[in-house]
Amino acid sequence: MDFRTTDTPLLEWTGDALALGFFEDAVELTGDLASLDEKLSGTLQELIADAEFKGKDGSSAVTRVGGSSPIRKIILMGLGKLESLKLETLRRAAASSARLAKKQRCTTLGIYLPIWNADPAATAGAIAEGIELALHQDNRFKSESEDKGVQLTQIDLLGLGEQSAAIALSQKIIAGTILARELVAAPANALTPIEMAETAQAIAAEFGLQLEILEKAECEQLGMGAFLGVAQASDLPPKFIHLTYTPSGTPRRKLAIVGKGLTFDSGGLNIKVAGSGIEMMKIDMGGAAATLGAAKAIGALKPDVEVHFISAVTENMISGHAMRPGDILKASNGKTIEINNTDAEGRLTLADALVFTEKLGVDAIVDLATLTGACVIALGDDIAGLWSPDDALAADLLQAAEKAGEKVWRMPLEERYFEGLKSPLADMKNTGPRPGGSITAALFLKQFIKETAWAHLDIAGPVWADKEHGYNNVGATGYGVRTLVQWVLGY
Ligand code: BES
Ligand code: MN
Ligand code: ZN
Repeated sequence: MDFRTTDTPLLEWTGDALALGFFEDAVELTGDLASLDEKLSGTLQELIADAEFKGKDGSSAVTRVGGSSPIRKIILMGLGKLESLKLETLRRAAASSARLAKKQRCTTLGIYLPIWNADPAATAGAIAEGIELALHQDNRFKSESEDKGVQLTQIDLLGLGEQSAAIALSQKIIAGTILARELVAAPANALTPIEMAETAQAIAAEFGLQLEILEKAECEQLGMGAFLGVAQASDLPPKFIHLTYTPSGTPRRKLAIVGKGLTFDSGGLNIKVAGSGIEMMKIDMGGAAATLGAAKAIGALKPDVEVHFISAVTENMISGHAMRPGDILKASNGKTIEINNTDAEGRLTLADALVFTEKLGVDAIVDLATLTGACVIALGDDIAGLWSPDDALAADLLQAAEKAGEKVWRMPLEERYFEGLKSPLADMKNTGPRPGGSITAALFLKQFIKETAWAHLDIAGPVWADKEHGYNNVGATGYGVRTLVQWVLGY
């Protein structure tokens, strides 16, 4: 996709489709828009009347321009009320105009949207994000691409001045997001722990990041009994991935991102039954995918912050070697865990990953995990849960998520609920009662952090979209990458 910010006045722009944004109850053709309407022989006025277009958020209308006009199609995009304009509104409007232009077989698209918050750079970046993410199609597993025929190849951003730097920044974030989408969408027979390690290797090579892969024997030496307990039924070797981005000067801060990396979660001996969504469990490395996607973006953006990217990657399988319900495992910090449900495996892999990460001496740790179905019940498909004992870190993450346009809701770390994890034999069980299941999962993770500022994001809902919505297509969303990048850049 070729994005151009052009100084061409609205009236002089020529191309296949021109998309225009309007606020709700302010669909008026004045100034340049009046002149444009005149030039297009009243097409705008007609379309507004025919479609009863009122500028409602998310609405759109499209028509052909008759005669030998230098513009073939007009697209109207509703932006909702002026007072409630968000960057996210513009991302979505840009996405829907690109989808429409593509459907209308257009090659070039001009976009004319209001500037958000007097910030033309952020506006241009958001438009680029909305368009690229909406048009991304994954053809890797088709014998023939379904994306043939006319392609939208050029986007002109009108009225924003020169914004190539802002667009280049967005494109780096988008590349990381698309990597995360592709990792999540890849089935478990195509994306094993080995391919995850190779992906990390490719990022390290491309951007000069440092890579450390701990094989099973090294994990054993470090006493990672919780991670290895999960890994022991798989025929594939577990891979503990640690990528490091180091800035050239003195880092202002040191941060760590940890992702749950189950390339498949069968449930183990507490096997997932029909109707539990077992066929979707290739998505269970969504946290690791966001981690590697963020590594790719950070590697390209080169901020002056040191960032560690960590994932304990394996599958949760069944075999004669499988951990049994009732087994007691010892994690690398010495804590013992009675396994009362082998399907609560993500927290076991994260336990050892968090202990490893805290030893790096970073200022803050954020983990992302498709950890619980309970979080999906609580917050639905669009919103991730956030748990943190640290109010400043929680606030930073909420702000980063708002900027990124990813929805996050802070949840309570209700200490009393840890009673549900008490074990008569071991230090704790791995599963509490069904009520508050996403909270006990977060409390379990907290046992493996001593003193470093830490936050946990449960992304089980937003990692995947069942319906096309905004710039998300059906399938993997790449959720988390954009929030993580904003969080790192915000320091
Ligand atoms: N990977 C699942 C959680 C999940 C569920 C992710 C649905 C995405 C969509 C996790 O390992 C799991 O199985 N959690 C159990 C925990 C339970 C056994 C305490 C769950 O949520 O049912
Ligand atoms: Mn599970
Ligand atoms: Zn899982």
